Amino acid sequence: MAVKAGFLLAAAAWVCLSAAVAPAFDGVPTAAFDERFSPLFGDGNLVRSSDDRSVRLLLDRRSGSGFISSDYYLHGFFSASIKLPKDYTAGVVVAFYLSNGDVYEKTHDELDFEFLGSRWGGQWRVQTNVYGNGSTSHGREERYLLPFDPTLEAHRYSVLWAPTHIIFYIDDTPIREVIRHPEMGGDFPAKPMAVYATIWDGSAWATDGGKYKVNYKYAPFVSEFSDLAVVGPRAGPVLRVPRRSGDEDLLGLMTADYAVMTPQKRAAMRAFRARQMTYTVCYDAVRYASGPFPECDNSEEERENFSAWGESKTVVMRPRSRGRRRGRKAGAGARGRADVASS
Ligand SMILES: *[C@@H]1O[C@H](CO)[C@@H](O)[C@H](O)[C@H]1NC(C)=O
Ligand SMILES: *[C@@H]1O[C@H](CO)[C@@H](O)[C@H](O)[C@H]1NC(C)=O
Repeated sequence: MAVKAGFLLAAAAWVCLSAAVAPAFDGVPTAAFDERFSPLFGDGNLVRSSDDRSVRLLLDRRSGSGFISSDYYLHGFFSASIKLPKDYTAGVVVAFYLSNGDVYEKTHDELDFEFLGSRWGGQWRVQTNVYGNGSTSHGREERYLLPFDPTLEAHRYSVLWAPTHIIFYIDDTPIREVIRHPEMGGDFPAKPMAVYATIWDGSAWATDGGKYKVNYKYAPFVSEFSDLAVVGPRAGPVLRVPRRSGDEDLLGLMTADYAVMTPQKRAAMRAFRARQMTYTVCYDAVRYASGPFPECDNSEEERENFSAWGESKTVVMRPRSRGRRRGRKAGAGARGRADVASS
């Protein structure tokens, strides 16, 4: 089938695609865990490497685990290389995200990378989301298939959050850009956020809408985070006068390679989205009958292509070990909260 062949092509093209885009992250300083982060929950399941530059987050029957940045940031660039748990991972959720939900209960902001486990080895789904000022009733989800097996080696997942726009990256390729539109109002994140990484049991929703639960026979589920990078103006959690260095930091952020969307990068982003995206809220006329969000850059051709495959897109992993089988679509319609409470 075309889509299946498409995956193999996509996997092969990933290398070319990534190579075509100049590395956006040259010179971004990575931090030791202790410099920027603290354990958040599931202490025994958070395992730091001896040089403190990588961290394993485990999920087992007792607990998930997670860590949080020691500071809050008002805008910035946030990045981690992540290797996801292998084998049967239905119901498992790994998240790398920004949030201020513990400070602003009703009006929180959030930017998410969420990785949804699967019944078929390396076929994790990736979901991005944007919330501002408590806009949880109108999520801005997108979901993608990955053009590689994210359990074999670490790949870099990054979020650029500027006052004017947001860019999500996988390795060097931008996969989503949210340009701040005046009509977004409070929906665009605008208060200081902390950085989180977590692994937790999302049995209720993560895989085929909750049909397949975590099977602890395969525990512990091990995710590994390295190349931790947080760059940007630090701030107190409550928005007051920015710190004096704030303006300089912001100028540095806005002019960095990763904040600038070149025509070349935009082309790579379009190619990724045309091949790998399985859901975007921008074309969800069922959920949002009153029309797409103001920042959506919809086109009729894209919409038609999308309804032709959308969530029904399937994927076959490269055959590389015995017993690997055909994949199925992800159907996670509901969104679980990536909060500590849900872990
Ligand atoms: C955020 O939400 C609060 C409470 O609903 C509201 O009072 C405030 O005006 C909102 N802020 C923005 C920037 O929309
Ligand atoms: C729509 O699909 C056609 C055929 O696969 C493709 O050539 C075209 O680039 C797609 N258009 C968009 C906007 O993705």
